[in-house]
Amino acid sequence: MKNSLKSHDKNMGASIIAIFFFFAAAVVHVYASERPDDIYRKSLHLHQMQGIRAAFPKRHSSSMEMRTSLQGAAPPPPSGPIVYHVTSYGADPTGQNDSTGAVLKAITDALNGPGKGVLFEGIVNLGGARVDLDGGNYLISRPLLFPVSGRGNFAIQGGSLTASNDFPADGFLIDLSSSSNSAYNYEFTTLRDLYLDSNYRGGGIRVKNSLRTTIDNCYITHFSTTGILAEGGHETIIRTSYLGQHITAGADPGERSFSGTAIALAGNDNVVSDIVIFSAQTGILLSGQANLISGVHCYNKANGFGGVGIYVQLPGLAQTRIVDSYLDYTGIVAEDPVQLTVANTLFLGDAFILFKSVKGVMSGVTVVDNMFAGSDKGIEIVQMEGKFDRLDQIAIERNTVKGMAVKTTVARASVDGGGPTWTADLKASLLFPNLIKQVQYTFVTEAASYPSHFLRNISDNKVVIQADAAVPARVYITADQGGSYL
Ligand SMILES: *[C@@H]1O[C@H](CO)[C@@H](O)[C@H](O)[C@H]1NC(C)=O
Ligand SMILES: *[C@@H]1O[C@H](CO)[C@@H](O)[C@H](O)[C@H]1NC(C)=O
Repeated sequence: MKNSLKSHDKNMGASIIAIFFFFAAAVVHVYASERPDDIYRKSLHLHQMQGIRAAFPKRHSSSMEMRTSLQGAAPPPPSGPIVYHVTSYGADPTGQNDSTGAVLKAITDALNGPGKGVLFEGIVNLGGARVDLDGGNYLISRPLLFPVSGRGNFAIQGGSLTASNDFPADGFLIDLSSSSNSAYNYEFTTLRDLYLDSNYRGGGIRVKNSLRTTIDNCYITHFSTTGILAEGGHETIIRTSYLGQHITAGADPGERSFSGTAIALAGNDNVVSDIVIFSAQTGILLSGQANLISGVHCYNKANGFGGVGIYVQLPGLAQTRIVDSYLDYTGIVAEDPVQLTVANTLFLGDAFILFKSVKGVMSGVTVVDNMFAGSDKGIEIVQMEGKFDRLDQIAIERNTVKGMAVKTTVARASVDGGGPTWTADLKASLLFPNLIKQVQYTFVTEAASYPSHFLRNISDNKVVIQADAAVPARVYITADQGGSYL
């Protein structure tokens, strides 16, 4: 409701502007060419870039600014530019010449721009400053390591960066790892609409000890290490982006040799949503807690070739949610999972979930409402490596399975027979060997007598119901390995 009102407003505003624009083009021109940030940029440019490149100040009047001008309000007082165009700094948008110095200078000027108060304690609010890549492709020979930290509310946007052949193999094209005096290095940094080509030398983006970073609509490729690495800090949101070591659309002849990790989250409270990972050894590596993975499509490297879609490397406490995702020929691996949910996710091509024992702990694990589809090879949807003996609060159930072998913690059966015992062997479908924590059963008979009946034995995942008389009966049995929360 709020949104629709807002866009309605905007449309009204746009038509008013259009009408005024027609009659007052000259006025607009005057205001536009005298906008303070353009003047500032021009003088900055002349001052700093003399002899490098001619000045072509660009106009970037938003409809909001135009409306202000048209309404006759005075232009805002000069407070420094908010858009730093890398081409104005001499960066070469054709990708021929090394643009590292020019792009870094634009970033440096943005970070040193006028502050407008503070965000989190110790973080200067840059008021929405933007470094604009002007739709160019820039050759970068060393990491764009932000030289100034303790800054927030700024963006880098709109273009491509390509690592040169001598780019350091352990570097990241965009690197937010400079430490600051604040508890965090950066806050509310936005990296958007970027194509990052690591040229098989290093990684794409590194965010360290930062708060509320958005990576949006980025395409990150040819990384040899990690596409996006978030270390420490929290609330990095990676959304609507594409990551792949090699540019492929599946069934790549070189798939066996894919290496690297598309996204590594070594910090807490991050979100990865609406992402496609089309090649890498590991799609997402989680070593920080409380991250949300949602709407992720992994087809980075098939399980059969040793690839992993999502690796939850948080033995003892994961607190991880993987939901509404798509594991496509590559699966999920989790070490000693404690508080892990995998829900509403499609596993295709015999993809499965593997629990790896470290100390044998599995607790608070729900794998529910997923779809598993395979090729009738009997591959189990959930598998275990090593022994788990400390089990609690586990629900692996309500998954639909086609062409794979069901594994569940809640098994159901109905057994017909003449008694006096009725046995349901649930070994094939129950995940844990020789473990049944609860049984419910219903004894149905049309016999005239009323035999007494009881649960006799649950050993070895076989449920035995016994009656004191042999009568024709059907017994419905539900056995649960789940645990103490019920
Ligand atoms: C690239 O560098 C060469 C040599 O310095 C220069 O002549 C040329 O103008 C530069 N090209 C661009 C697009 O900046
Ligand atoms: C339950 O069954 C196992 C073998 O399946 C057997 O060794 C055990 O004695 C049985 N227990 C009872 C109480 O019948």
